[in-house]
Amino acid sequence: MKTRYYHLPRLTGVDALRLDEREVPAPGPREVLVRMRAWSLNYRDLMIASGTYGRALKPDAVPVSDGAGEVVDAGSGVTRWREGDRVAGVFMPGWISGPPTARKTAGVLGGPADGVLAEYVLFDQDALVAAPAHLDSAETATLPCAAVTAWHAVAVTGGLTPGQTVLTMGSGGVSLFALRFAALGGARVFATSSDDAKLERLRTLGAADGVNYARTPEWGRLVAEATGGGVDHVVEVGGPGTLPQSLDAVRVGGRISLIGVLAQDGVADPSAVLRKGITLQGMFVGSREMFEQMNRAIEHHRLRPTIDRAFPFTEAPAAYRYFAGRGHFGKVVITAE
Ligand SMILES: NC(=O)c1ccc[n+]([C@@H]2O[C@H](COP(=O)([O-])OP(=O)(O)OC[C@H]3O[C@@H](n4cnc5c(N)ncnc54)[C@H](OP(=O)(O)O)[C@@H]3O)[C@@H](O)[C@H]2O)c1
Repeated sequence: MKTRYYHLPRLTGVDALRLDEREVPAPGPREVLVRMRAWSLNYRDLMIASGTYGRALKPDAVPVSDGAGEVVDAGSGVTRWREGDRVAGVFMPGWISGPPTARKTAGVLGGPADGVLAEYVLFDQDALVAAPAHLDSAETATLPCAAVTAWHAVAVTGGLTPGQTVLTMGSGGVSLFALRFAALGGARVFATSSDDAKLERLRTLGAADGVNYARTPEWGRLVAEATGGGVDHVVEVGGPGTLPQSLDAVRVGGRISLIGVLAQDGVADPSAVLRKGITLQGMFVGSREMFEQMNRAIEHHRLRPTIDRAFPFTEAPAAYRYFAGRGHFGKVVITAE
């Protein structure tokens, strides 16, 4: 049977996305065939399509790391899944648990290895997690990259405790999950956004305070004053352009989780890191174990991810273009027709 999939024969931007047909793949030993029902976009999908990701990519790869669906077939030796199970793919199929290593973090979906923007995808049985029971496929598809990264930062290395102060940036995928996990754990969340209306929505999701970074470019000092000396933890998705403000916003002895590169222009002075004794921790998504731990929390609290807009599978390029416009609040998803 023929089935449809997207691939990237060139890395010249969204226009390079090609929709083609191939045979439904047959599962080999320990492999599971998943009929994909939904996918979600991350900022890295734009970078990969435009050739600016900065890591070696598989030629003509299937794009997109994040997707969810149901098991329709299994090869020999599959013990973890049965037909009909609702699942999501793991961003780094080789990182099951423990600290990251070069071997575990190789072969990332959606560029370095083939991704999941296809109607049927084969996974190793170990590279899947069960979907949280109360979430539909579109909601589940928002989790593998953005949510696991936020969980890793806030709940794993961030050592979340009630009463902690956490700063999140903007209203994209990682930041909304970070805000919600932090608020769930009893933290006081300080959110930034370029848009007052979005700041209001961030408040309804649990942010106690907010600052418009477009109107107040020097927001770091304002946050430090408002929190009586700085926040305990900054979830940094801007990179070079926002790090100087994060260094002002964080308290002495605080933590900055280095996650993203949304703001490329800027230079941070490393002397603040040593003067304030800051822990600067880089992180790359997370393990399957973190994904499973996060899903237990999501299920227990019946948390529902924030989806901005859904596009049908055949309109994936329109989803990419909409996502690139940065007007979104939360996740942009693609759903099977
Ligand atoms: N290290 C990792 O494992 C990992 C994992 C996932 C993502 N990332 C990285 O994290 C970043 C965020 O990814 P994402 O998928 O969540 O992105 P996204 O959904 O595209 O986030 C876009 C939002 O970020 C905010 N933003 C844009 N420029 C900003 C700036 N200069 N300062 C503060 N906020 C800004 C805007 O919010 P407002 O409209 O509210 O201003 C914008 O709507 C990307 O750089 C991505 O590559 C890293």
